[in-house]
Amino acid sequence: ASRCRRSGRTRFAGPSVSRAEALAVYGLMSDADVIQRVFDHIDNKTTDLADRVWREPVASYLSDEHFADELEVFRRLPTVFCPSAALSEPGSYVARSAAGVPIVAVRGGDGKVRAFYNACRHRGMMVAEGMGKVGAFICRYHAWAYGLDGRLKHVPGDQGFPELDRDAHDLIPVQAEERGGLVFVTQKAPLSEGAMAAVPDLLSPDQELFDFVQMHDPANWKLVVESAMEGYHIKALHSKTFYPYGFDNLNVVETYGPNSRLVFPFRRIEKLRDTAPEDRHPDGMLTYVYHLFPNARVSMLSSHHQLIIIEPEAPDRVRWDFFRLTPPARDGKLVDKAMTAKDADFVKDTGIVEDREAACSIQAGLATAANTHFTFGRYEKSA
Ligand code: FES
Repeated sequence: ASRCRRSGRTRFAGPSVSRAEALAVYGLMSDADVIQRVFDHIDNKTTDLADRVWREPVASYLSDEHFADELEVFRRLPTVFCPSAALSEPGSYVARSAAGVPIVAVRGGDGKVRAFYNACRHRGMMVAEGMGKVGAFICRYHAWAYGLDGRLKHVPGDQGFPELDRDAHDLIPVQAEERGGLVFVTQKAPLSEGAMAAVPDLLSPDQELFDFVQMHDPANWKLVVESAMEGYHIKALHSKTFYPYGFDNLNVVETYGPNSRLVFPFRRIEKLRDTAPEDRHPDGMLTYVYHLFPNARVSMLSSHHQLIIIEPEAPDRVRWDFFRLTPPARDGKLVDKAMTAKDADFVKDTGIVEDREAACSIQAGLATAANTHFTFGRYEKSA
């Protein structure tokens, strides 16, 4: 599995402490310190560096055995399932597969998020698909009905099941918990392990989900994850998209627990040079990318936020579960929705397309015997 190798309508709980305090808990730099570090890098033509070069065997991207081991890790540890904003009201649900296992998460009438294996206890059909809002889960096959708490509530023609122990036929629960505006699920390990051991408040209750899409690529999941873990490729791969607005190979990279945070500064950050450090605000000046082990990232872009969950489907096939959210209110005002849509489409339809092309191209190249290892240099600290 991938790991750091070297170093409004919502009822979900919002931040209970300030963002700076929450970040400090995990040893992450304050916005002011990040901005000063960016200026230092600009002035010195430097970037954050890893301690050493890393060589990853190409077999890690190809091997069926390695892939099976990775799935086992995914199924054992807590993983990000969806943003809390996707479960904005009682009955709101998200059904998707996590590490190949269909799971449905739903907000109950008591406001609590619960998750279940998405399999009817009659003959196994999934009880929910996609996203939506329901009063109960009614299986499409024979209409067995389950409450939002997973309890079996109704069996049509139940005289046909004279021995049925109803209490033994509830939906099977999966552990779920909200943290920092995200819903995590875990099938085995305690929720306190893995990524959840270190999750600052990332999304706030005033952020709304405005789009969800799934995309598929013929590439190993790690190639997609790694494409957002360094800025060494900005000028070469994103010459006409991100590079005109940002810097090449200039990042602040921090790790916390199994997770990491990358900062991609915009060129317009120069406008903050003459602002007192305590008054420097990162909105529109920096993109924060929080990687949550093993396969999720929250990107805080200038006018929208993204939660991307990279789902491995096979050693050479990956699915993107791509949630897009409005940004938090600034100075009490919501960001203009047209601006949010424009920003979101620009990122998804240009830079991310280029990242997808790179991942697929690398995957195709794995068929050659050109490389036994890939070399991650000191610029690629987080990858
Ligand atoms: Fe669900 Fe029959 S499989 S009701």
